[in-house]
Amino acid sequence: MILDSHGREINYLRLAVTDRCNLRCTYCMPHDGLQWLQRDELLTYEEMLRLCRLLVSKGISKIRITGGEPFARKDMMHLLTSLSEIDGLSELTLTTNGVLTAPFIPGMKKIGIRSVNLSLDTLDRERFLAITRRDELDKVLDTLRALLQQGMGVKINAVLMDGRNTGDIRPLVELAKDNAVSVRFIEEMPFNGDGADCQPPVWDHPRILQEIKAHFPGIYKIPDAPHATAYNYSIPGYKGTVGIIAAYTRSFCGSCDRIRITPQGTLKTCLYSDGGLSVRDLLRSQQNDELLLATLLSAINNKPRDGWAAEHSRKEGRVLGESMAIIGG
Ligand code: 5AD
Ligand code: SF4
Repeated sequence: MILDSHGREINYLRLAVTDRCNLRCTYCMPHDGLQWLQRDELLTYEEMLRLCRLLVSKGISKIRITGGEPFARKDMMHLLTSLSEIDGLSELTLTTNGVLTAPFIPGMKKIGIRSVNLSLDTLDRERFLAITRRDELDKVLDTLRALLQQGMGVKINAVLMDGRNTGDIRPLVELAKDNAVSVRFIEEMPFNGDGADCQPPVWDHPRILQEIKAHFPGIYKIPDAPHATAYNYSIPGYKGTVGIIAAYTRSFCGSCDRIRITPQGTLKTCLYSDGGLSVRDLLRSQQNDELLLATLLSAINNKPRDGWAAEHSRKEGRVLGESMAIIGG
């Protein structure tokens, strides 16, 4: 079992496989994208597999692949297949924007991937174009339909932005009427890659809940899974559920069970930390498994108490507009 110094069991790894993306969501990336990492700055699939095998042998039981957009990296199914074969890994999932995803769904199902998180902030074509700067809504909706048809678990992630997609709250919630999806509204975090100082989101958890309640007065709280980041709700007669992720307010850190590996192979023990251990350098330093694991476990042990402590311990004492694609979803 992997424990941190606050007594939390760490069993969940979020592994970002690329910083690249075929969309340019305004809350994540500038218009022109980022200064993309070079190939040798990314972990190779072999390095990722070695790292994952080691961590699973010590207690990581769930891995989520993130990015950038995972399917923007070549041969993604090859990595997923190898990861799915790791003994002791009980859950393999991924977060995708859904544009390139549909053709891979049968393959994902075959290797035992049971659920996918889909980023979808609006059901309106014009607003989708304004938010992601690409006209790709139809492909994302095809992916959503195909996921549901194949019986995959689906969580929809919608980042709420004042005046941009708050009118979508109602139609997005309505997706949960006839479909067993979990529609989650996420407080916007200061990770849009513009380097600017951040402001707390206008649409925070209480405001989002208030707006949902105005349209769906019957909504009621349901129990959350342990370590869940979403506060979950049901609406009478609905097959799916609704969740709110207080990603900025950071009220769920006490039960945090996760670590991240960024696209450049840095261990981030909190989303709001800067820097971190270069696992890439470690993997390339010819160390044996035992030494490598000892360094990793000691870094994990130092995981900050919560996202506020992590942010305060940054060089500038606060987040200054890094891109979510550099941190790794
Ligand atoms: N604030 C909140 N959520 C974000 N995501 C990406 N950038 C941000 C941000 N600045 C979400 C996307 C994606 C998930 C991994 O992170 O919705 O689904
Ligand atoms: Fe791409 Fe996701 Fe960032 Fe949007 S939020 S630009 S889909 S990585």
